[in-house]
Amino acid sequence: MVKVTYRQPDGSEQTLEGKPGDSVMQLAIGAGVPGIVAECGGSMACATCHVYVDDAWTGKTDTRSESEEDMLDCAMAEMKDSSRLSCQLRLTEALDGLVVHIPEEQF
Ligand code: FES
Repeated sequence: MVKVTYRQPDGSEQTLEGKPGDSVMQLAIGAGVPGIVAECGGSMACATCHVYVDDAWTGKTDTRSESEEDMLDCAMAEMKDSSRLSCQLRLTEALDGLVVHIPEEQF
Protein backbone atom coordinates (compact mmCIF):
# COMPACT_ATOMS: atom_id res chain seq x y z
CA MET A 1 0.00 0.00 0.00
CA VAL A 2 1.05 3.57 -0.64
CA LYS A 3 0.49 6.28 1.94
CA VAL A 4 -0.48 9.80 0.91
CA THR A 5 -0.87 12.73 3.30
CA TYR A 6 -3.24 15.55 2.36
CA ARG A 7 -2.37 18.79 4.13
CA GLN A 8 -5.09 21.43 4.41
CA PRO A 9 -4.48 25.20 4.35
CA ASP A 10 -5.11 25.29 8.13
CA GLY A 11 -2.30 22.77 8.69
CA SER A 12 -4.54 19.80 9.47
CA GLU A 13 -3.65 16.53 7.75
CA GLN A 14 -5.23 13.29 6.68
CA THR A 15 -3.13 10.28 5.72
CA LEU A 16 -4.70 7.63 3.50
CA GLU A 17 -3.50 4.38 1.99
CA GLY A 18 -4.08 3.42 -1.61
CA LYS A 19 -2.93 0.87 -4.15
CA PRO A 20 -0.34 1.48 -6.85
CA GLY A 21 -2.22 2.66 -9.93
CA ASP A 22 -4.87 4.57 -7.96
CA SER A 23 -4.81 8.30 -8.47
CA VAL A 24 -4.21 10.76 -5.66
CA MET A 25 -7.65 12.18 -6.54
CA GLN A 26 -9.48 8.81 -6.32
CA LEU A 27 -8.04 8.17 -2.91
CA ALA A 28 -9.10 11.62 -1.68
CA ILE A 29 -12.63 11.35 -3.08
CA GLY A 30 -13.09 7.93 -1.49
CA ALA A 31 -12.32 9.41 1.92
CA GLY A 32 -14.04 12.78 1.40
CA VAL A 33 -10.91 14.89 1.72
CA PRO A 34 -12.12 18.52 1.78
CA GLY A 35 -10.99 20.76 -1.07
CA ILE A 36 -10.72 18.04 -3.71
CA VAL A 37 -13.95 18.08 -5.68
CA ALA A 38 -12.97 16.40 -8.95
CA GLU A 39 -16.09 17.54 -10.80
CA CYS A 40 -15.09 15.87 -14.06
CA GLY A 41 -14.28 12.53 -12.45
CA GLY A 42 -10.69 12.51 -13.63
CA SER A 43 -11.01 13.32 -17.32
CA MET A 44 -8.77 16.40 -17.03
CA ALA A 45 -11.61 18.83 -17.69
CA CYS A 46 -12.17 20.71 -14.43
CA ALA A 47 -9.00 21.44 -12.39
CA THR A 48 -10.97 21.06 -9.13
CA CYS A 49 -8.50 18.37 -8.08
CA HIS A 50 -5.49 20.73 -8.08
CA VAL A 51 -2.85 20.04 -5.42
CA TYR A 52 0.68 21.23 -4.70
CA VAL A 53 3.24 18.46 -4.30
CA ASP A 54 5.30 19.00 -1.14
CA ASP A 55 8.84 20.31 -1.68
CA ALA A 56 10.30 17.10 -0.25
CA TRP A 57 8.78 15.21 -3.21
CA THR A 58 9.94 17.54 -5.95
CA GLY A 59 11.32 15.55 -8.86
CA LYS A 60 10.01 12.24 -7.52
CA THR A 61 6.64 12.30 -9.24
CA ASP A 62 6.23 11.89 -12.99
CA THR A 63 6.12 15.05 -15.08
CA ARG A 64 3.01 16.97 -16.14
CA SER A 65 1.71 16.56 -19.66
CA GLU A 66 1.01 19.58 -21.82
CA SER A 67 -2.76 19.03 -21.50
CA GLU A 68 -2.42 18.86 -17.73
CA GLU A 69 -0.58 22.18 -17.75
CA ASP A 70 -3.27 23.75 -19.93
CA MET A 71 -5.94 22.68 -17.45
CA LEU A 72 -3.86 23.84 -14.46
CA ASP A 73 -3.83 27.27 -16.08
CA CYS A 74 -7.59 27.37 -15.48
CA ALA A 75 -7.39 26.30 -11.83
CA MET A 76 -8.74 28.60 -9.10
CA ALA A 77 -5.37 28.71 -7.36
CA GLU A 78 -2.15 29.91 -8.93
CA MET A 79 -0.21 27.31 -10.92
CA LYS A 80 3.23 26.70 -9.44
CA ASP A 81 6.07 24.36 -10.36
CA SER A 82 4.67 21.94 -7.77
CA SER A 83 1.11 22.02 -9.17
CA ARG A 84 -0.52 18.78 -10.25
CA LEU A 85 -3.98 17.65 -11.16
CA SER A 86 -4.33 14.93 -8.57
CA CYS A 87 -6.37 12.82 -11.02
CA GLN A 88 -3.23 12.57 -13.18
CA LEU A 89 -0.93 11.69 -10.31
CA ARG A 90 -0.84 7.90 -9.95
CA LEU A 91 0.39 6.10 -6.88
CA THR A 92 3.51 3.99 -7.18
CA GLU A 93 5.52 2.23 -4.47
CA ALA A 94 8.16 4.94 -4.92
CA LEU A 95 5.64 7.57 -3.84
CA ASP A 96 4.93 5.93 -0.48
CA GLY A 97 4.75 8.80 2.03
CA LEU A 98 3.85 11.45 -0.56
CA VAL A 99 2.58 14.74 0.86
CA VAL A 100 0.29 17.05 -1.11
CA HIS A 101 -1.11 20.44 -0.13
CA ILE A 102 -4.66 21.52 -0.91
CA PRO A 103 -4.81 25.10 -2.23
CA GLU A 104 -6.77 27.54 -0.06
CA GLU A 105 -8.63 28.91 -3.09
CA GLN A 106 -10.33 25.55 -3.59
CA PHE A 107 -12.80 26.13 -0.73
S1 FES B 1 -10.80 15.58 -11.65
FE1 FES B 1 -11.19 17.06 -13.15
S2 FES B 1 -9.23 17.61 -13.80
FE2 FES B 1 -8.83 16.18 -12.24
